[in-house]
Amino acid sequence: MDISIVGSGYVGLVTAVGLASIGHRVVCIDVDGSRVDLINRAEAPFYENGLAEALRTHVRDRGALRASLDYSEIADSDITFICVNTCSNSGQNADFRQKHIKEATKKIGQSLASKRDYHTVVTKSSVVPGTTEKIIIPLLERYSGKQVGTDFGVAVNPEFLQEGRALQSFLNMDRIIIGEYDARSGSMTQGVYNGSRAPVLRTKMRTAEMIKFASNAFLAAKISFINEIGNLCKKIGVDVYEVADGMGLDPRIGRAFLNAGIGFGGSCLPKDLEALLRKYRETGEKAPLLSAVYNTNKSQPLRMVEVARARLGDLKGKRIGVLGLAFKPHTDDIRNAPAVEVIRQLLAQEARVVVYDPKAMPRVRELFHEQVEYEDSVAGAIAGCDCILIVTEWSEFKDENLFAGKVVIDGRRALDPDKASLVCQSYDGVCW
Ligand code: UDX
Repeated sequence: MDISIVGSGYVGLVTAVGLASIGHRVVCIDVDGSRVDLINRAEAPFYENGLAEALRTHVRDRGALRASLDYSEIADSDITFICVNTCSNSGQNADFRQKHIKEATKKIGQSLASKRDYHTVVTKSSVVPGTTEKIIIPLLERYSGKQVGTDFGVAVNPEFLQEGRALQSFLNMDRIIIGEYDARSGSMTQGVYNGSRAPVLRTKMRTAEMIKFASNAFLAAKISFINEIGNLCKKIGVDVYEVADGMGLDPRIGRAFLNAGIGFGGSCLPKDLEALLRKYRETGEKAPLLSAVYNTNKSQPLRMVEVARARLGDLKGKRIGVLGLAFKPHTDDIRNAPAVEVIRQLLAQEARVVVYDPKAMPRVRELFHEQVEYEDSVAGAIAGCDCILIVTEWSEFKDENLFAGKVVIDGRRALDPDKASLVCQSYDGVCW
């Protein structure tokens, strides 16, 4: 098929590469000229495991993927995936949050105005339930002058990609969820994944939108749950990781997403949970459980700073090394990263902060400028520090001997507590 992808951020570009790798011809449409140039030079605009190599294969060697600024190219494709950013900052109003999706949809509608054949438009970005019906379809009809169901089809096909292993996630999907306006739209969308062995569930559009939000809220709940259990375990001398291993043996529970620590970050879990809570408020429904999931996660990174205070006393003037800034390993993404909150707290307490991350340094520099010191190695960040905080579990930090004689606080169980307790001056876990 000829596929157009609108928005070549994280979701859009990974989807584009994935679709090219299963045999489609793909064009990424974006408003950012420098991003379009980078993709056409087969260079990755951000770090994701395997993305640079995949771009070389599909852009340069096979010519199956390219990027363009020209929305009118959408008319040359069979199906369009909307993959634009859905910002959901709590301080922003609904208009602002929907700005990107509305602008993209309007331009897709305009480009479909000149198209004679049937076309399908698919929402892949995470949007609150009802968005495709209430916002996307009316805009497509208005700007194309055409009618949904007759001239074009619409579907919702949420992404479940995990950063750091997004390309593998795409190629080994565990499910394909398709919310369809009608059967024709759903079948067109399903056709894109021909050959995949993943189970397919076809639903109404708002159900598919809700499946994405409910899935992320559930994962978030698992993490906040185990963190709360861990906070008590620490107080009563129980190892929460052994508790999680024991719980995980029950197939009804499962071991995944029960790693206790400083909580979840990233572009999806916090943002989608916020958007869902907002939807509860709008409808007058209460969500005490999900509100608690959110609040527990907000306070979890602060515990790390509390442990540091318990060890060192007043943090003013203390040199604190922060290892790991990305919200999880194998990505350079610092959106809602617990490290950012930890650094803010340390600065508020007038500590001297030294940071190191193998991939995310440029992004952290854009945020903190000269407020913190930047080191280009683990050893450099550790040297001369009063205390080291391990915030992201990159594998290069997983060596207890690096921290011999140091005061270490581990937010991610990067180190083996028994070994670390032997070699470090002191070793504390955030909830173990
Ligand atoms: C998530 C969903 O997993 C994915 O399906 C969706 O499409 C996008 O959002 P992602 O944001 O890439 O993916 O990261 P994920 O692996 O889910 O981790 C999110 C955060 O939770 C990270 O900060 C991670 O460190 C944290 N986490 C994860 C824990 O604290 N404990 C765990 O057990 C698992």
